[in-house]
Amino acid sequence: MNVLFHATFANKDEFLKSLKKIFIPHKIYTLDQNIPLDKIEVALVWNLPDKILKKLTNLKVIFSLGAGVDHILKSPSYKNTPIIRIQDPNMRSRMLNHVLSQILIYQLKLNEYNKAQQKNIWLNERLTALNMDLTIGILGLGYLGKFIANKLKSLDYNVIGYKNTVSTGKSQIPIHYKKSLKTFLKLSDIVVSVLPATTETSNIINKSFLNQMKKKSLLINVGRGSSLNEIDLLKHIQLNKYFFASLDVFKTEPLPKNSKLWKNQNITITPHVAAITDVDSSTNYIFAKFEQFRTKEKIKSNVKIQKGY
Ligand code: GLV
Repeated sequence: MNVLFHATFANKDEFLKSLKKIFIPHKIYTLDQNIPLDKIEVALVWNLPDKILKKLTNLKVIFSLGAGVDHILKSPSYKNTPIIRIQDPNMRSRMLNHVLSQILIYQLKLNEYNKAQQKNIWLNERLTALNMDLTIGILGLGYLGKFIANKLKSLDYNVIGYKNTVSTGKSQIPIHYKKSLKTFLKLSDIVVSVLPATTETSNIINKSFLNQMKKKSLLINVGRGSSLNEIDLLKHIQLNKYFFASLDVFKTEPLPKNSKLWKNQNITITPHVAAITDVDSSTNYIFAKFEQFRTKEKIKSNVKIQKGY
């Protein structure tokens, strides 16, 4: 079976090495080799150029090398090929750590001590909220969001969720659906967006959304940059000096040097690192799915392609 690997990760070589080891005897090709693209049946990709996807005319399955699949679905040449995205416990642990770190920096006012230290100032202690005094609203309750919500709840935070589709399964936290976004935002001291990039989530965090949030609050975006109207956020912070944001994802990545977000004192910026794909565990995940596909000769997407996540 002919497999193609392409990724734009900093550690792509390490990833490829790990995949090659586990995929023996199957050969994994890369684009720098002279390979007939129309013979490729399996593509393991992160940000595959559309002009390459177009030439993969015999493709049977695409593996996204991350949790998101927007990098595939946005390709004009994508035509309903089954997609397997990574659902990896290590990835969600990483994302939980990132979210928790941003909650704690805000909750414990650690940035104030940090700024004071730069001027050799011993600050008076700041009064901080207990976990049980804070309500954290998780926007998007998929594989990552649900895990974060349940873990934060186990740390005694009040946790509520928001999602679009009503689910019948039992939930450990109260869930607000579509029309009750207003109530969800009104209750939340911290809103964490884990939303995927879809047409429905595009610019969902806009002026009206921000105005419904508490004046003193924190927005954490670890989902996708397309969900946030960055200009509305900058304007909102200008009018609300106790409103903070921690952004890991952006409309344009890398964030352009001249973006006004960089220098804003109320915004923390991290370069899309909240849930880095873990090489070893995701390699095992991919290989297990690949073997399922190879033996059964078919595979079902673990992505709702019409919905986009
Ligand atoms: C990262 O953003 C991912 O989708 O894995």
